[in-house]
Amino acid sequence: MRKRLRKTLSGRIPQEVLSHVYNSYDIVGDIAIIRLTEASREYRRIIAEAIMSIHKNVKTVLAQISPVQGDFRLRRLEFVAGENRTLTVHRESGCLFSVDVAECYFSPRLFYERMRVARQVRAGETVVNMFAGVGCFSIIIAKHSAVKKVYSVDVNPAAFHFMRENVRLNRVCEKVIPILGDAKKVVREKLRHVADRVLMPLPEKAFEYLPHALFALKDKGERWIHYYDFEHAKKGENPLEKVRLRVAEKLESLGAACEVPFSRIVRTTGPNWYQVVLDIKIER
Ligand SMILES: C[S@@+](CC[C@H](N)C(=O)[O-])C[C@H]1O[C@@H](n2cnc3c(N)ncnc32)[C@H](O)[C@@H]1O
Repeated sequence: MRKRLRKTLSGRIPQEVLSHVYNSYDIVGDIAIIRLTEASREYRRIIAEAIMSIHKNVKTVLAQISPVQGDFRLRRLEFVAGENRTLTVHRESGCLFSVDVAECYFSPRLFYERMRVARQVRAGETVVNMFAGVGCFSIIIAKHSAVKKVYSVDVNPAAFHFMRENVRLNRVCEKVIPILGDAKKVVREKLRHVADRVLMPLPEKAFEYLPHALFALKDKGERWIHYYDFEHAKKGENPLEKVRLRVAEKLESLGAACEVPFSRIVRTTGPNWYQVVLDIKIER
């Protein structure tokens, strides 16, 4: 698609600007979210029309005008072309997700991770999703495994609103329990020692919240934490090993021993920066 965007734009914007057009963009439901450089900004409508001509299902193009920021992990968006709205329905792995992309975090790029984790959930498990957003991991787990319950926590009232709507939309009300609040407080007050598996899909806070993840886990049995983090690694360094060492040391200080049978780089987030996931098995 990248090559196709540049090819479609060729002849419609100056040749020297072409190399300043970002190659990648997200498509959430029927909304495309692009990023603009200083040089390409002037041509945003042409870029948006090219994207709509490539992806016939895209009805709206928005430009991201700030980094993802704040507790709710939101980005500021500016309308560029098509229908002026931020509400859409995204389809992923046989599930539907209603989302307002201006009010809630949503990344279609995590689709592989969501199914990868769902495939590991065993029959009868209880899962705590500490940073659930509009409920993607939770609902995909409910749809694709024989999970007993998924407690699905988010602190953003808008994400909670859409999570509830998505639970209804996907008919998983029996399995997914949306909870509004800070995961730290929710775990302490309502979810002590209930979980076989804890999801921590918020790299900015996962390390800080590790003690609370441990607190959510049952006292015995096979217990897992899916831990997401960012790491910097220079040439010759292994970002996965750096995170593994940091987490193992932290867990050790909390009195837990662990094994990390699987880890992977989810994506590159900048020069020498990586988003990683560790599947952590708690041994004691
Ligand atoms: C990266 S998003 C989660 C992505 C989501 N799991 C998915 O698959 O789309 C992080 C979410 O954590 C929520 N969040 C941030 N701090 C929180 C906290 N202390 N407790 C609970 N949720 C929190 C944000 O509102 C945001 O929706």
